[in-house]
Amino acid sequence: AGENPALTRNNKGEVWVQQRARPRRNRKSATMRGMVRENIVTPSNFIYPLFIHDEDFNQKIESMPGCERHSLDSMLKEVGESYDLGVKTFVLFPKIPDELKTNMGVEAYNPEGIIPRAVRMIKEAYPDSLVCTDVALDPYSDQGHDGIVVDGKIINDETINQLCKQVVCQARAGADIVAPSDMMDGRVKAIRDALDSEGFTNVSILAYTAKYASAYYGPFRDALDSHPGFGDKKTYQQDPANGREALIEAALDAAEGADMLMVKPGMPYLDVVRRLKDNSPLPIAAYHVSGEYAMIKAACERGWLDEKAVVMETLTCFKRAGADIILTYYAKQAAQWIKDDGLY
Ligand code: PBG
Repeated sequence: AGENPALTRNNKGEVWVQQRARPRRNRKSATMRGMVRENIVTPSNFIYPLFIHDEDFNQKIESMPGCERHSLDSMLKEVGESYDLGVKTFVLFPKIPDELKTNMGVEAYNPEGIIPRAVRMIKEAYPDSLVCTDVALDPYSDQGHDGIVVDGKIINDETINQLCKQVVCQARAGADIVAPSDMMDGRVKAIRDALDSEGFTNVSILAYTAKYASAYYGPFRDALDSHPGFGDKKTYQQDPANGREALIEAALDAAEGADMLMVKPGMPYLDVVRRLKDNSPLPIAAYHVSGEYAMIKAACERGWLDEKAVVMETLTCFKRAGADIILTYYAKQAAQWIKDDGLY
């Protein structure tokens, strides 16, 4: 083949680069690509976060197009539609009226509060679903913090005492999984003991293990009206600059009895997902958070990204990084796309 010494000719006289390893062979058709694919996203990997409030209407969330604060009836409808698409695990986040918010967050363990009622409704209608509840005081706090505030500080051990009352209340309502998102030290152990001593040895703990002090939670705080009342959450949530620190949290949570470990946010923290996966045999979850959802939505609304393609790629990348479980506001939509396209 002319002057280029890399190009020779085969027996048929065709140009031939003498290259034996050709990775493109494993990509030559959709069937071949399907056969060798390493990671597949299915609806059973998803946990679908739902915002709820004690009103008889739904409230749109401006910064999260396509998401709403649901009335309990609408929540149950959303659960049913998702369930039929194979999404069977839900995590509930309540918007609490200001008049019920206190520094101690006592509404968090009101047995007739919105969360216990919502859990009972879902478990009654869909006994085989998994209902997961968030454990932290922020939706219930008049200070807008995850724990009790004294002299401008978020106090660890007193907060844990409140969280234990919260989880027992959630477990009594029928929660299958409790997910402490507060980042207090020692809370997983205390929560495990509180559950076990009330007979709830079968309730699982999905620990927010590596939860970062992230700017990506903005739209979520809009949804719940739970922006910090003062300051920020940097004395309890992790510094985004730190990766190794997640291993300390992972070791503690595992030793204290967590059943699953979570990394949050998701996309900018895939290295942390991988580190936890390589360092723990527990299932790993990643939270594709509100700000990540909002970014994709905003770009797609402008026609700058192809929503279905970019979302399915994103979710697949979570799995490639090591996530077994993905919390995403796209859960129902992605399950619909997976079904429509006959992916599985
Ligand atoms: C509260 C909590 C937050 C999120 C989940 N649980 C917000 C926060 O820590 O301020 C964020 C989820 C999201 O942004 O989608 N404990």
